[in-house]
Amino acid sequence: MANYIFCSFALHKTKIAMLTRIKELQQEIEGIVAKSVDEAEELRIKYLSKKGEISKLFEEFRNVSAEQKKEIGQAVNTLKEFALEKINLLKEGLQEEKSAVSGIDLTLPGEPMKLGTRHPISIVKNEILDIFKKLGFVVSEGPEIEDDWHVFSALNFPEEHPARDMQDTFFIQRNPDVLLRTHTSSVQVHDMETMKPPIRTITPGRVFRNEAISYRAHCMFHQVEGLYIDENVSFADLKQTLLYYAKELFGEDAEIRMRPSYFPFTEPSAEVDVSCSICSGKGCNVCKYSGWLEIMGCGMVDPNVLEASGIDSKKYTGYAFGMGVERIAMLKFGINDLRLYFENDVRFLQQFEAAN
Ligand code: DAH
Repeated sequence: MANYIFCSFALHKTKIAMLTRIKELQQEIEGIVAKSVDEAEELRIKYLSKKGEISKLFEEFRNVSAEQKKEIGQAVNTLKEFALEKINLLKEGLQEEKSAVSGIDLTLPGEPMKLGTRHPISIVKNEILDIFKKLGFVVSEGPEIEDDWHVFSALNFPEEHPARDMQDTFFIQRNPDVLLRTHTSSVQVHDMETMKPPIRTITPGRVFRNEAISYRAHCMFHQVEGLYIDENVSFADLKQTLLYYAKELFGEDAEIRMRPSYFPFTEPSAEVDVSCSICSGKGCNVCKYSGWLEIMGCGMVDPNVLEASGIDSKKYTGYAFGMGVERIAMLKFGINDLRLYFENDVRFLQQFEAAN
C-alpha cells in the first residue's frame, strides 16, 4: 500500500513537472529569432535533435503512468509540431531574404496602380442619356436578340423592305423570326406595348448589321433612341427638344437644321444636322465644307406604329429619334476610324477620361 502511494505521488510529480517544462519550452520557442539560416539550424538542434530539449521530454514520457500518457503525449507532440513549424518558417524567411536582390529599400512607396479609362462610347452615351434624363426621359433597354415583329413589322416596314434582307440583317439559325436587332427602334415597340402614355423613354443599345468592316462601317455599333408619346405632342416639341440637346452636347452656339427624309415608322420624317463644331459652320474637311454634320433621324411616330403597339392614335401623338453613338463620339473626339472603338488597343483607350 505504502509503496503504491509513494509511486502515485512520484508519477503525479512527473506530470506536473513535465507540463510545466512543456509550457516553458513553448514560451521560449515562441520568442526565438534567428539572423541567419545557420542560427536557425542551431535552434533546430537545440530543440529537435536526438539530444534536444523536446527529445528529452519524450524520454521522461516513459515514466508517465498509463492513464496520463494520453494527455502528456498530446502536449509533447503539439510542442514538437509547433517547434518544427516555427523553425521551418524562420528558415524559409531567411532563405527568401538571402535570394532576394540585395539593396532593395522596402520602405519605398509602392508603384501607383493605374486607373482604367472609360471607353469613348460609354463617355458619349452617358452624356447623351444625362441630357435627356434632365428633360424627364427615363432610360429603357431591350433585348439584342429580337423577333421580326419588334424590329420590322410593328414599325411599319413593308414585307419587301430591303432592311429585312439577309444581306443587311443577321438572322439566327436560319429562323427568319429570330434576329439581331438592326436598330434600337425595336425598344420603342416594347415600351409602347408595356407602358401607358405619357411615355418618355431614352434607349441606349448595341445594334448589328451585316456590313463589311471598314473605317466607316462596322457590323456592330451603338445607338440611342428617344420616344415621347402623349396627347398633343407636335413636331415643334421635337424640334425644340433636339435643339436643346444639340446645345447641351456641342455647346451654346450649336444650331440644328432638319431635312425631310423617310423612315417607315415616322411620318413626317427628318434627318437632323448640327452645325459643325470644328469650324463653327465655316466649312472644313470634317463637314466636307458644308458647315453641317448629320447626327440623327427623327419624326412623328406613324399612326400605324402606335396602333400596332396598342396605343390609340386618335388620342395620342408622339415623336421619335435615333442616333449613332460612334458618329457623335467621332465628332466630339476627332476619331476618324470606326474600327478603333473595338480593337481594345490601350494606346487608343488610355487617351480618354479616367474611370472613377
Ligand atoms: N432607326 C433608324 C436607323 O437605325 C434611326 C431612326 C430614325 C430612329 C428615325 C427613329 C426615327 O426613332 O424616328 O437608322
